[in-house]
Amino acid sequence: MRVLDRDVVVIGAGPSGLTAAYELRKAGKTVAVLEARDRVGGRTWSQTMDGATIEIGGQWISPDQTGLYSLIEELGLETFERHKDGASVYIAEDGSRTVYTGDDFPVSDATNAEMDKIIAAMDELAAQVDPDAPWEHPRAAELDRISFHDWLRTITQDEVACTNVAPFIAGGMLTKPAYAFSALQALLMAASAGSFSNLVDEDFILDRRIVGTMQGVSLAVAERLGDDVFLNNPVLRLEWSDEGVVAHGSDVTVHAKKVVIAVPPNLYSRISYDPPLPRRQHVTHQHQSMGLVIKIHAVYASPFWREEGLSGTGFAPSNVVHEVYDNTYHGESTGTIVGFISDEHADAMFDLAPEKRKAVVLQDIAAFLGDRALEPVVYYESDFAAEEWTRGAYATSYDLGGLHRFGPDQNKNVGPIHFSSSDLAGEGYQHVDGAVRMGRRNAARIVAALDGTEPDPDYDGVVSPFGTLNLQDA
Ligand code: FDA
Repeated sequence: MRVLDRDVVVIGAGPSGLTAAYELRKAGKTVAVLEARDRVGGRTWSQTMDGATIEIGGQWISPDQTGLYSLIEELGLETFERHKDGASVYIAEDGSRTVYTGDDFPVSDATNAEMDKIIAAMDELAAQVDPDAPWEHPRAAELDRISFHDWLRTITQDEVACTNVAPFIAGGMLTKPAYAFSALQALLMAASAGSFSNLVDEDFILDRRIVGTMQGVSLAVAERLGDDVFLNNPVLRLEWSDEGVVAHGSDVTVHAKKVVIAVPPNLYSRISYDPPLPRRQHVTHQHQSMGLVIKIHAVYASPFWREEGLSGTGFAPSNVVHEVYDNTYHGESTGTIVGFISDEHADAMFDLAPEKRKAVVLQDIAAFLGDRALEPVVYYESDFAAEEWTRGAYATSYDLGGLHRFGPDQNKNVGPIHFSSSDLAGEGYQHVDGAVRMGRRNAARIVAALDGTEPDPDYDGVVSPFGTLNLQDA
């Protein structure tokens, strides 16, 4: 067992923990990062399969994600645009397939008008919501008591409009059924991306990718941290007091003044805290749960859909595979389609044997792109729910009523313990951008506390069972 002394120990080498450690190091602090897995990157992870680059976890960047963009620039990485040229495909509930261009789904004018009505209502409310404090909206409690499913039906009685709009937040983002989270949670998702209009615009939200993959961001930061990143070191026990912490990994123990816990909130309870966390944290963390999504990767000898004038983009709000995109990696001559299966559809698919599931999935992709889609050279299912150190995907969100009740405490540190995760972010919530922003914010607060300088203006306060601490002590 190696025993180390550091200013700060960081638990988790995903983008948030690594960013925090990197910023702390730049500010002259000593750090150690303890990571459970045998790799860095957390929910960003890439592999090469039969010559094709597969991004198993997070990959896309949108123009509003300036926190991540600034890190990419600092690291000297480059980005490339997702292939967007060509027509899209829409499959209606009755299975009818329409090839279309432009922003509007090929549904009746009346339904399109109702969809526009929902989008306008969401945009208006999202503009009033501070993504860092959605609970401060004057109607927060009311909007947190109604499910997104039911709220949509207060705006319109058009079922097709509701079914078409809901997936832009439910299946497509929180990866939970629309009845399982509140309208306020949906508004946080929209506000975190700038507007709901941004979320329904796939050319905006799925704009660019990184040359070297999204995991490459974490790899580049970890390289700069060098020997201070310790893999295969899950922290299962944390001793803490106002004097500091002791984090116990598998073969490394770190004594430090502060700790950044940079694991997803659903995993906070994997760590045994001595003394226990305050009751408020115990309860709060139980109301943050992961969604469930299967990300499908199908690689073909060539991007054959482009020959037929298709972009590879398709929407089928009622199908198992509810959306597909051209996901061909930078510079590769093979063609890759990515598809998504969310929430209850994912439950149903995981009940099937793998070969049967693959057949159902490929039939759904063929419904968008034709029978050539039935014969991929590589087929892979991302399944982060089966991963010990994630347990779901893409991220955590609050259950109905939880956001306004517990959210105000989610970013308060507990004595020397700071929490950092994309799932606690305002801007960039549930995205790598949010992970980076949270890493930087926590690093700034800790540096201010250690140096005795003024804390960051957006400092959120302090909770400690040892009494209320002076902000300077945070
Ligand atoms: P993250 O979960 O990445 O890292 C946490 C780290 O902590 C992990 O390395 C884990 O092993 C480690 N850990 C856990 N418990 C530990 C313990 N007890 N001790 C030590 N280490 C421990 N985002 C985006 O911007 N664009 C996108 O296209 C997508 N798409 C997408 C697809 C899929 C399939 C997934 C699963 C996720 C996305 N995302 C995304 C989300 C994005 O990947 C996510 O927001 C960030 O990776 C979160 O970064 P964090 O560092 O907060 O957590």
